[in-house]
Formats: sequence, C-alpha cells, structure tokens
Amino acid sequence: MHVFVAGGTGHSGSYIIPELISAGHEVTGLARSDASAAALSALGAKVRRGDLQDLDGLKEAAADSDGVIHVAHRQDLLPSGGMDAVAAAELPIMLAYGEALAGTGKPLVTAGSIGSPGNLRRPVTENDPALPSGEEHKGTLRARNVVERTVIDLAEQGVRSSVVRIANIAHSTTDRAGFLPTLIALAKEKGFVGYPGDGANLWNAVHIRDAAALFRLALEKAPAGTYWHAVEDRGIPFRAIAEAIADRLGLPAVSVPDDALMTPGYFGFLTNIVTQSYPASNLITRRTLGWEPVRPGLLADLNNGHYFPAG
Ligand SMILES: NC(=O)c1ccc[n+]([C@@H]2O[C@H](COP(=O)([O-])OP(=O)(O)OC[C@H]3O[C@@H](n4cnc5c(N)ncnc54)[C@H](OP(=O)(O)O)[C@@H]3O)[C@@H](O)[C@H]2O)c1
Repeated sequence: MHVFVAGGTGHSGSYIIPELISAGHEVTGLARSDASAAALSALGAKVRRGDLQDLDGLKEAAADSDGVIHVAHRQDLLPSGGMDAVAAAELPIMLAYGEALAGTGKPLVTAGSIGSPGNLRRPVTENDPALPSGEEHKGTLRARNVVERTVIDLAEQGVRSSVVRIANIAHSTTDRAGFLPTLIALAKEKGFVGYPGDGANLWNAVHIRDAAALFRLALEKAPAGTYWHAVEDRGIPFRAIAEAIADRLGLPAVSVPDDALMTPGYFGFLTNIVTQSYPASNLITRRTLGWEPVRPGLLADLNNGHYFPAG
C-alpha cells in the first residue's frame, strides 16, 4: 500500500514508518519543518510538506493514499487549552480524513488510549467502547474520547477505520517525553520514587516497536470500526514500576498517601492518571490480527539502563 503517515517523526511514528517499509509498503510522511522532512527522508519515507491545521492538504494526502495512519497530536495546545483543545483540534482532522476516504473502504488507523473505556473493574477488552465525553468531562483525559468515537463511527461511511489503544507507558530507547521519563524526572526532583497509596493499581506498558507492528497489522487487516490493544500484558502494579525506578536511581520507593493533599503534592497534574487502575486484555488483538508483543517488557527495559544515563 501507499500509506500516508501524520506524526511520522514522533516517538511512535518513527518506528511505524520503518515497520511499514520493511513490510513492503510505501510511505509518505507529513512534515511541517525542514528538520521533520529530513527525519522522514532518513526513515525512507517520501515527504509531503504541510501542517495539521491545513485540513484541505490532509484531505488531499489521504485521497492520494491507499490508507492513513495518524499518530500526530497538537501537544503544543496542552499548556493553554488542556486536553479539550487537543481534542478540538483533532476532531476536524478525523472528519477531513473521513470525507476523503468515505465509501472507499480504505483504512484509517489512529492512536487512542487504553484508558478510554474507563475503569470497568475487570480487564478492558477491545469490544469495550470509549466512554462518552460530554461537557462534564471537560479538562479530563476523557475529553479526547470524542476523537476515538468519531474515528470508529467513520466505519458507517465506508472507511475501514480503527483505533489502536496505546498503553499508559510506551517504552523504547528513544522515549524522551512519555510517562516513564516524567516519573523518573519527578523522582529525581523529590528525592524518592512515589507510588499512590498501596501502589496496587495496575498500569500497563508496551514496547513502541511492538506498538508499531500493531499499527501495521491494523492497517493491513483490521475490520472497520474496531479497537485494538497495544498492551504487552494485563498490567503491572504501579508499586513495581516505582520500585524498579527506585532500584536504578538508588532512591527509596515510598507510598504517597492517596488523599486530596498528598497525591497532588507529589504527582501534580499527573494525579488523576497515576491513581487509576488500567487492567486491559490484548487477547482479541492477538487472536484476530496475529499480533504478538516480542520486545522486552517494561521491567526488562528499565533494567537495560537506557532510561538512566550516567551523569
Ligand atoms: N503512552 C503513550 O505514549 C500514548 C498513550 C496513549 C495515546 N498516545 C497517543 O499516541 C499518539 C502518538 O504519540 P507519540 O508519543 O508518538 O507523539 P509525539 O512523539 O509527541 O509526536 C507527535 C508528532 O506530531 C507531529 N505534529 C505535532 N504538531 C504538528 C503540526 N501542527 N503539524 C504537523 N505535525 C505535527 C510532530 O511533528 P514534528 O516532528 O514536526 O514536531 C510529531 O511527529 C498521540 O496521539 C498520543 O496522544 C500515546
């Protein structure tokens, strides 16, 4: 296929492009700067200059392709407008792809979040839809669910749309801005590695190379209107992650009382995210798409040391 990739220079995109090329696909990537254009060329992709704000350009790129993978996001809007602004910017992009691909049966694969179905008190499956994101959810992570739901609904318009729900932690040797580097930086600043309450809440993880393979499989064979789970296992207790970080940093792992003062005192804007449990299954993804996570798991990758450069 000739695949249009938006976000090809990012953490996931820079693994998705080589994954597609090595499977025999041709890739055109969106670049908004000379540096991004050079990075895409180095990955073996053709370059299409443009910006996420140019919806006509995105429509044209989608129409010129056999399928689209969208892993770009307007993170620059987070500080001023929060998740609402990020979602509001993404929505017209998905609708633009929808217009370009309607009635073609071509694939559109976008990134979603493993937290989107909420805490169901059992492992979330690929059949659980994203929770609705109404007015009352403004300012929370849930505000972005409207984007996932819009992508899924494009199936009704003849787009082979699917959403790859990415684990909380996507890890690799090039992870510079994910949750893991953020938690490590926080621990260094505070002098200890905090975990909320008893730390039994489950987080999940995926090696970004495994996630990239799943994006390719979804592009190639996901039925329309489906969710897929890029998670390497059912979940790891937050405390185990904190203890692994503590071990590498030579700092103590310490429980942060799970109350309205102490948790925000340590975790700040991450509070509502770190206190949740995200048990998730990947069984349907493995059985249906034949995906198998084969890269090092989170704790093994933390042991590799690349998250803890000397000095
Ligand atoms: N654990 C996780 O990492 C996780 C979990 C759930 C969901 N997700 C979602 O997965 C997706 C991919 O995440 P990621 O970590 O791979 O992203 P990332 O590393 O932050 O990369 C963002 C990409 O978007 C591009 N971009 C941003 N603004 C643009 C603009 N105005 N015009 C054109 N391109 C623009 C960037 O291009 P430049 O190189 O030009 O800046 C870059 O390629 C995101 O939607 C993210 O929210 C991630």
